[in-house]
Amino acid sequence: MPIFFDESSKTFNLFSKEMQYTMYVDQNGRLCHAYWGKKIRALNVQRISNSYKMSYGPNLSLEILPQEYPAYGGTDFRSPAYQVQFGDGSTVSDLKYTGHKIYKGKPKLDGLPSTYVESEDESQTLEVYLYDAVGKLSVTLTYTVFENFQAIARSAKFKNESSKKIKILRALSANVDFEDDDFVMIQLSGAWARERNIVKRHLVPGIQSIESRRGASSHQQNPFIALARKHADEWEGEVYGFSLVYSGNFLAQVEVGQYETARVSMGINPFDFSWLLEPLETFQTPEIVMTYSSEGFNGMSQTYHKLYASRLARGKYRDLERPILVNNWEATYFNFNEEKLLKIAKEAKELGIELFVLDDGWFGKRDADNSSLGDWVVDRRKLPNGLDGLAKKINEIGLKFGLWIEPEMVSPDSDLYRSHPDWCIHVNGRERNLSRNQLVLDFSRQDVCDYMTKTISDLLKSANISYVKWDMNRNMTEIGSDKLPPERQRETAHRYMLGLYKVMDEITSSFPDILFESCAGGGGRFDPGMLYYMPQAWTSDDTDAIERLKIQYGTSYVYPQVMMGSHVSAVPNHQVGRITPIDIRAHVAMSANMGFELDLTKISDEEREKIKAYVSEYKKLRKLIQFGNFYRLISPFEGNESAWMIIDEEQDEFLLYHFKIFERPNSKGIRIKLKGISTNKNYRLEGTNEIYGGDELLYEGITIPHAFGDFQSVLMHFKSV
Ligand code: DGJ
Repeated sequence: MPIFFDESSKTFNLFSKEMQYTMYVDQNGRLCHAYWGKKIRALNVQRISNSYKMSYGPNLSLEILPQEYPAYGGTDFRSPAYQVQFGDGSTVSDLKYTGHKIYKGKPKLDGLPSTYVESEDESQTLEVYLYDAVGKLSVTLTYTVFENFQAIARSAKFKNESSKKIKILRALSANVDFEDDDFVMIQLSGAWARERNIVKRHLVPGIQSIESRRGASSHQQNPFIALARKHADEWEGEVYGFSLVYSGNFLAQVEVGQYETARVSMGINPFDFSWLLEPLETFQTPEIVMTYSSEGFNGMSQTYHKLYASRLARGKYRDLERPILVNNWEATYFNFNEEKLLKIAKEAKELGIELFVLDDGWFGKRDADNSSLGDWVVDRRKLPNGLDGLAKKINEIGLKFGLWIEPEMVSPDSDLYRSHPDWCIHVNGRERNLSRNQLVLDFSRQDVCDYMTKTISDLLKSANISYVKWDMNRNMTEIGSDKLPPERQRETAHRYMLGLYKVMDEITSSFPDILFESCAGGGGRFDPGMLYYMPQAWTSDDTDAIERLKIQYGTSYVYPQVMMGSHVSAVPNHQVGRITPIDIRAHVAMSANMGFELDLTKISDEEREKIKAYVSEYKKLRKLIQFGNFYRLISPFEGNESAWMIIDEEQDEFLLYHFKIFERPNSKGIRIKLKGISTNKNYRLEGTNEIYGGDELLYEGITIPHAFGDFQSVLMHFKSV
């Protein structure tokens, strides 16, 4: 894990167990990138830097030179990592190395979520100090390498050392210059109800990018990209991952330059962003977590899964098994009363479910989505005994009680909006566009944040609440804030995120016993920023088992299954109208944090028996399912089936999931070769006397029992003997 600096060659070497990241300070004082990949016994950096000089002679153009944090204004015409405007209006700068510091551990980021360590020995950090002498701007680049992960966490911090204002126009979190462009770019893209589909594209000259301008990381693009060697697959080949720990507007781009180089840069979206730095003020960028895998996409995912489950997620639930819940949303929508909820809860208890979650519609006079957001007062028409009374009755039934809230929003038809029409994000004199009949509260304002922190804290104290679903159901339009002066209006979206993070930090730390799940119309903010405050997220509003194959498979590129909520819902499915057997719905839900989202009082006897059995099986397998290593085997994006495995760290026990979408007549049986198990161990298929050699399962594979019909699935449980 150590970080070394060689004074004579001015070289930094950052090592994890199998990975090396090397950079050096060149003769002009610029921080240059030399290498990122597998460990090399003795990398000769001099030869690397000379190779650029040899190819391009004395007038070395910066455009050929791989750099760590490139500036705008010199001979590099590619996209810069940052750009500032000085008091004289100029936008040219040039950062030079002035010093560095290497220390154990990992610092916290001011006001922003980030990965962390629990002991100083888990990581080392390098801070490199860069300075633009003309404009008196300093930038600190921070790099942390982890003992146990093939990952580097990076960020940048700006400081105005001058006596005049400096305006930041672009401040990305990191830049990596690859020497060649022989890569495929991977992104997780989609829309509401079909989030995080895997998209791959070959790099071409120019910029290829994904971004969000929606004020949230978004359903459309996840703040993640990877560059993979063209031959890389799930198990082999080099893959470089880039994941931004941020929940707002972001940009991730790869620029292929004229010399067939690939420049990756990522951070807060510079579009409609600027930040004014008064003298001596600082600006901290979000963190980017960069991973290296020589073992394909599964290798990359293993790093993200383990790092995010253990060193991004926080709080007591990080390592605790998560409860099986029933949520009343798809069962009742807004149309419920206490009696109806208690009936569902009683059924749930019979089936072995552990937590009842009351979703939208319990407050103000919210009978539809057109009112009451902001008025977090229980609706006594529906719940005459209040939340406290309901929670008590739910507890008496033997279930824990959970509550839905959407604290960042306000309905125009609400007491809150009538008293504070200026408390929403808006631009004076312009229309306030509604989406789902609501507006976004201006969390860039301290008074709004204070009010909401108090309101939600009082609410959470008012009943025995064990779980909170924190929803967010629209994107920002007409972005502006009444509290900011004209020259700071473009700070609104980022200030909103800083305000939101602070509110979430205060609330989640004041209620350490509550399990928080984030949600944004399903998966519109399924990002590492949110997962730092809330250890799990509602994966998508699409609960159809077949759609979920793709959504959960794509999500697993970066996020572990313990962070994904996955519910069994009714058929015909409410999003797509599809009718699928209860088995496949249960098996998909049993691949992550299982829950139910249907009217349990209306299911058939057969479904009831099956649900009861699946709940009891899930409880037995829960630790393995939630905390085991997740391996993708067959991609639903490539054909008619999908498969994955979950295996414990010791390779003693694993689950094999196989999903067939459509029946294919007169076809041969399906055989799958497993991964990640021990060649030397033998495994029994539980419930049978069949023993398989680990090597047999790896090299020869296993035949999946044929089940007739569409939408069939199997879940096979193996234990070493
Ligand atoms: C969107 C969420 O994703 C749903 O699960 C549900 O909570 C609704 N909002 C309620 O308005």
